[in-house]
Amino acid sequence: MSRPVPTVFDQAFAAAVRAPSPHNTQPWRFVVEGDVIEVWLDRERVLPVADPHRREARLACGAAAFNLFISLRANDLAVVVRTLPDPAEPDLVAVLRLDGNRKAVQAERRLAEAVFRRHTNRRPFLDKEVPPGVRTAVKSAALAEGGQVEYLDASGRYSPVASLVRQAESLQEDDLAFRTETAFWTHRPPGSPDGVPRTADGPPPDHHGVVTLRASHENAALPAREYEQQPLLAVVLTRDRGAHAEVRAGMAMQRVLLTATAEGLAASFLSQPFETPWTRDALDRLFTGLGQPHTLLRIGYGYPTRLTARRAVADVLTHRVRPDVPAG
Ligand SMILES: Cc1cc2nc3c(=O)[nH]c(=O)nc-3n(C[C@H](O)[C@H](O)[C@H](O)COP(=O)(O)O)c2cc1C
Repeated sequence: MSRPVPTVFDQAFAAAVRAPSPHNTQPWRFVVEGDVIEVWLDRERVLPVADPHRREARLACGAAAFNLFISLRANDLAVVVRTLPDPAEPDLVAVLRLDGNRKAVQAERRLAEAVFRRHTNRRPFLDKEVPPGVRTAVKSAALAEGGQVEYLDASGRYSPVASLVRQAESLQEDDLAFRTETAFWTHRPPGSPDGVPRTADGPPPDHHGVVTLRASHENAALPAREYEQQPLLAVVLTRDRGAHAEVRAGMAMQRVLLTATAEGLAASFLSQPFETPWTRDALDRLFTGLGQPHTLLRIGYGYPTRLTARRAVADVLTHRVRPDVPAG
């Protein structure tokens, strides 16, 4: 097998770091050894208040692993992905091994291109329905990674989930530790390579609709605007639960987001109900029989907003030289 030229790896890591992460914490690091890439969860970048069990960090690392995978595939490389391969190393989230050459299909190239356009859009979306064919494409994306997408309008769960979003938001607003953590990551100095900048926030809503985005992501300097009345809400689920399922859910979530981007859709997250124990349990119960819910997405048509910054690849990448292989 011919070794990949460095630029293929450069592209793959540039793609990996474009993954979404809670408050843009970027809780990952990568190790390359020969033809193997390891994705590690970086515990120093996990949110201790919102994410004490590292659930959201594993989703983010799963998304980064998917970006690596799709970027390598778009360069005609065959890739074998193993998630959480070593029980003794719970922070080793995924291992990708190059396995020869295999021509990419057009759909894979399309997803790889979408990596550099995808972003979280917290602004109002248009009151325009997502057509059935596009909804199906997004659902198929989750299935391709062993996940599942459920549209809440199709399942009678819309009102109960929207209510849990509001209740969790209110609990978090009353929680000083939560507010302090959020403020730390959302009031970063300009030019910061992590955290959520003001430019990524949305205008305040002119009145509160069924679903609320996080109040901490409202930019009060912008004039109030009307948000869509009933956005399309989609939950990403897996059959199983636990750490392994969370990594797979992160990969499925990323394929869903990239498919949505390629289809011209915008998306944002509503993670509040996953972050307080009471609402998380209530969510789990709502989906009993269907699977384990991992993330809630608002999907629709919107005008693109600006991309947020990332740390440099050099800050998150280490090369490990095999002891039996002479360096250089
Ligand atoms: C697991 C997870 C949960 C997230 N939860 C929220 C959320 O509740 N509200 C929100 O506005 N953004 C949320 N985000 C989006 C991140 O803030 C966003 O990915 C990050 O700031 C990087 O920006 P980008 O997605 O535009 O690249 C979440 C992202 C992930 C991966």
